Amino acid sequence: MQPKIFVTRPLPQPVMELLKAHGEVELYPEDAPIPAEELMQACRDVDGLLVVSNRVTEELLSQAKQLKVISTPSVGYDNIDVAACTRRKIVVTNTVGMLEETTADLAFGLLLATARRLVEADRFARAGRWKYWQYNLLYGANVYQKTLGLIGFGKIGQAMARRARGFAMRILYSTRHRVADEIERELGAAYVEKETLLQQSDFVSLHVPLTPETRHLIQARDLELMKPTAFLINTARGPVVDEEALVSALKAKKLAGAGLDVFENEPRIHPDLLTMEQVVLIPHLGSATAETRLKMAMLAAQNLTAALSGQRPPNVVNPEVYR
Ligand code: DGY
Repeated sequence: MQPKIFVTRPLPQPVMELLKAHGEVELYPEDAPIPAEELMQACRDVDGLLVVSNRVTEELLSQAKQLKVISTPSVGYDNIDVAACTRRKIVVTNTVGMLEETTADLAFGLLLATARRLVEADRFARAGRWKYWQYNLLYGANVYQKTLGLIGFGKIGQAMARRARGFAMRILYSTRHRVADEIERELGAAYVEKETLLQQSDFVSLHVPLTPETRHLIQARDLELMKPTAFLINTARGPVVDEEALVSALKAKKLAGAGLDVFENEPRIHPDLLTMEQVVLIPHLGSATAETRLKMAMLAAQNLTAALSGQRPPNVVNPEVYR
């Protein structure tokens, strides 16, 4: 009998074809989260689940007696209760290695847009407010030769460092595990404690996964340490920052601005952020290019079909299931 596969979003045709060659595929046809109850029903008799953004809870797993593999076409998997999957020997896979450069492009773009007020300037021009060339119109902040502080120094953090070198930036990083000397040398990056990084950076960019340890990694006391001229860039996960504290700090001008791709309660954006000119807000677009999204979906399908065929997929996030 062919394995049953449930897919929660329409994916590119070659990806669907690959899945169909390996099993009986059922698809939720909308590019929106499937209602939780419907997902629970759909998972009752499936062997493989390819899930985008929906939460995979203990309750869902307790109903999904046949489930062997859950694959997500993303690097983050904080929507999946991995510990509960591991207890049930369900393999969980992600798409690490596919989207890091694309996400770093966006993070650096957000940094530039925030520093140079590009979105505000676009709004100004479109509103017909540009009457004549002005000497002091829409001053921004220089990026060239400034200090970039990277919190989290995995593949995306390091990709940011490579971009920053082109802007002759001084690069600081803080992370749980310091990287090898040769990587530091190659990227021209210096390891410092988080406090030092916050105090010295002109731009602080976050590149950590969301885990219980990184939830509210940036709180009021951290924002207090930042320079009033500094900017916070978040393309990691919204709950890494205490959003209420960020709003208060921005209002009190404890930092100059923020570029945010992710939010604490997505898709809801804090109403006060919506009124602030010094923030650039974008709707979780880190990996959103056609090329990268295709690669992510294809790898997610390959991970899923490998696990269903009894092979060990390359991107397992809970290798304990194989012990
Ligand atoms: C990721 O891969 O984690 C992106 O943020 C999309 O969710």
